[in-house]
Amino acid sequence: MQEKIKTLISNAKNALKSAANMSDLNSVKVAFLGKSGELTSVLRGMKDVPNDKKPLIGKLVNEARDAIQSFIQEKERILIAKETAEKLEKEKIDVTFKGTKKELGSLHPCTLVIEEILDIFTNLGFTVKHGPEVETDFYNFQALNIPKDHPAREMQDTFYITEDLLLRTHTSPVQVRTMQSVKPPIRVVNPGKVYRPDDDATHSPMFQQIEGLVVDEGITMCDLKGILEEFAKRLFNDPNAKTRLRPSFFPFTEPSVEVDVTCSMCHGKGCRLCKGTGWIEVLGAGIVNPKVLENSGIDPEKYSGFAFGLGIERIAMIKYGIPDMRMLFENDIRFLKQFK
Ligand code: PHE
Repeated sequence: MQEKIKTLISNAKNALKSAANMSDLNSVKVAFLGKSGELTSVLRGMKDVPNDKKPLIGKLVNEARDAIQSFIQEKERILIAKETAEKLEKEKIDVTFKGTKKELGSLHPCTLVIEEILDIFTNLGFTVKHGPEVETDFYNFQALNIPKDHPAREMQDTFYITEDLLLRTHTSPVQVRTMQSVKPPIRVVNPGKVYRPDDDATHSPMFQQIEGLVVDEGITMCDLKGILEEFAKRLFNDPNAKTRLRPSFFPFTEPSVEVDVTCSMCHGKGCRLCKGTGWIEVLGAGIVNPKVLENSGIDPEKYSGFAFGLGIERIAMIKYGIPDMRMLFENDIRFLKQFK
């Protein structure tokens, strides 16, 4: 019996020696310590051991089990260390290896212009208000003093959805909606998309506008000129920028003006951008027609106001020297990348 136990220990030792990985080790564990393993079969032999030898043999068997267990533990420690080292070696990353650069997107030039313009006007005390792109004939035309079948409708060709519903041709209907919902003093800017069936180098069927509206007691053309000149100085980063008002016509303003700004490229000397005039036309504006105030529920005897509207794409073209409006809608990455 003593011999048997000795052999058991040395067999276990040998088996562990040749265990190359954890699964080998497991097989050894089962073969020696498992339910039907070698140690169990030795234990079965205990019944044949004479009683006086039993304590000694029992002790030896226990020692043998403890010894085998500790050999296994030791081997386990070695194998885990070895496998971890191998894994680390296999999964090593070279932190000096050159990575692939992820391209960062950028804001669209029109978005940049909108954000900049809204920034300027909110700094001047205006709030931003949006309105629907599908409008009724009333808000887009009638309330703005453009009656049905009036020749003034020819100024803005229109996409009609039904007899009464249309894609708004300008952001001016938000003027009316604002005056209906807010009491003066009013100072708002309304950015948004507008639609007209035009398509060439300087016109697109969809484009964006920002409309501005100020209504209070005693508002005059001087307020309009002052605000717009300050706006032009900030937008074109030119503290010496001047504005020039030219008489014009809009059914919703009276008097109406086109506002020119000192050319941002030549500062008034005359160049390709301003076609030699030194001035660039940037927006339409005027004193809100008393009829529009009345249509919007504001007393024209008490209040007056000014409004202006400008095209975002046109401003982007002027600011960034973009020759064709269609470039703004083609989404050519080479073009868009330049506005980072
Ligand atoms: N709504 C006009 C347009 O789109 C622009 C404008 C707005 C003119 C406000 C004067 C006052 O042409």
